[in-house]
Amino acid sequence: MDKQQVISSPDEKDVIVINRRSFMAALMGIGSAAMGALLAVPVLRYVLYPLYAKASGTEWSEVGAVSEFASAAAPVRKTIDFAQRDGWREVVSSQSVYVHRMETGELRVLSAICPHLGCSVSWQQGQDEFVCPCHGGRFQANGTHVSGPPPRGMDALPTRVVNGKLQVHFEYFRSNVPNKERLS
Ligand code: FES
Repeated sequence: MDKQQVISSPDEKDVIVINRRSFMAALMGIGSAAMGALLAVPVLRYVLYPLYAKASGTEWSEVGAVSEFASAAAPVRKTIDFAQRDGWREVVSSQSVYVHRMETGELRVLSAICPHLGCSVSWQQGQDEFVCPCHGGRFQANGTHVSGPPPRGMDALPTRVVNGKLQVHFEYFRSNVPNKERLS
């Protein structure tokens, strides 16, 4: 059978036409899928953003007037409110912090969350130390670890002073690890 006979066969023509149509359809399908995938990337990033975004405090919280701590002989406990992202929602949370005036006069703000397993530490005036009620972790006034199971000192938070007011950026840190690892 020669080539001319193959082309002139009605059956063979049909096969060739169908194959061309199938090829074009497949090509268009692949093109559409690729275009769809390209367009989906930014949409997916937008939709999934709350799942991988860090649940951080989103703004600075006011702690008090700097003058309030000028003569503080011991750490001062304060409750601060801060906005926190929870998925698509932004919720306002409260946390306790301690303001410690260093020997240099600089103000240091410590998270009251124990770096061991997250209990709330409190300043014990009589003992001149922070003590964690859960497992007896102890810390100096500046947050340095003294004894007990916590693997590091209390976590200091970023601060700034605006118009004479001390502000803090509240953050969460990973529990029970020796180095401070920010989660928020
Ligand atoms: S949670 Fe504070 S010592 Fe364990």
